[in-house]
Amino acid sequence: EKGGYPHFMLKEIYEQPNTIFDCIRGRVVNNATEIKLSGVIDHSDRFINARRIIIVACGTSWHAALIGQRLLQDIARIPTSVEYASEFRYSNPVLTSDDIVIAISQSGETADTLAAIKLARENGAFVYGVCNVVGSSIARETDTGTYIHVGPEIGVASTKAFTGQVTVLAMLALAVAQLRGTISQEKLSEFSRSIEQLPSLIKETLKLNDAIEKLSSTYTYVRNFLYLGRGYNYPSALEGALKLKEISYIHAEGYPAAEMKHGPIALIDREMPTVVIAPSDELHEKIISNIQQVKARGGSVIAIVTRGDTTIPEIADHTLEIPPVPEALSPIIVSIPLQLLAYHIAVMKGCNVDMPRNLAKSVTVE
Ligand code: M6R
Repeated sequence: EKGGYPHFMLKEIYEQPNTIFDCIRGRVVNNATEIKLSGVIDHSDRFINARRIIIVACGTSWHAALIGQRLLQDIARIPTSVEYASEFRYSNPVLTSDDIVIAISQSGETADTLAAIKLARENGAFVYGVCNVVGSSIARETDTGTYIHVGPEIGVASTKAFTGQVTVLAMLALAVAQLRGTISQEKLSEFSRSIEQLPSLIKETLKLNDAIEKLSSTYTYVRNFLYLGRGYNYPSALEGALKLKEISYIHAEGYPAAEMKHGPIALIDREMPTVVIAPSDELHEKIISNIQQVKARGGSVIAIVTRGDTTIPEIADHTLEIPPVPEALSPIIVSIPLQLLAYHIAVMKGCNVDMPRNLAKSVTVE
């Protein structure tokens, strides 16, 4: 059932070219000139009149929510905030019928997320679900939504569900932008074509596996890790750190790269490696200086860069190249080396990657 892979997690990492293909099938249509999500089409007035969006989720789904926030803000121009479902449900939120609450959950059974959407509906908000498990409690309790369609995820550490969630959120932002007229046809088509290319870009990125397995042996006995990223990849840093903590039990923290100098830089020494997510984008120069700061303090750096970057490989200890991809979709590609890094370090430590200690696949209690 593991399809020849030693663990479900590795199988699920490798499935991603196919799962993302399934996720976008029938949704990026008409030669990539249009995005079709029935949940948006059937409730277009809700999306046209929406005053704001609140996304609620837990764990990895909460990281996907942070990326969704940027996508909805950048592309659909709707003010969007993100809440931990566990906090939102007890926060006495101000909600109106012009609010849309998006609930993201792989399992569709997370107790806090379920309670958050019940509260949102009681207060008159329109609730949109982004779930994987068809017919799950959250899928049933929401007004409408979009399934990510990535197939069963068995590994406790979420991998293919995360990339599916981000892909759905990108399509959702585009579908809403289409409705509200906040995107030109040219940009919409360009974006949609990039979404169609994701399966092949993921496939290409998976070729990093051997290099990552090799470098992982250097870091097996490290006790702390720092993950840095900016913009769309700040949530990627959080997610990379969560993946490592969950399955390897190594303490890891994710930070927006520029925050490093406001505190975390004090932690850096020879014993504390830093993963820097540094694709070629607007803030590339700034992230190069973050890498130099880590190096100047004796820390080692694993950098994720865009193919063709000639500067970072000169300063980082290990460089992992990903193919060029628009910034707003880069977290999907970036997550591949982060998943593989956590996986190989955990396997080398002898950890049970599919069933890490103290964790359950779905958290159905408070
Ligand atoms: O099923 P859900 O997406 O609602 O689950 C939310 C979290 O419990 C989940 O993402 C958890 O953080 C994973 N173990 C992360 O790998």
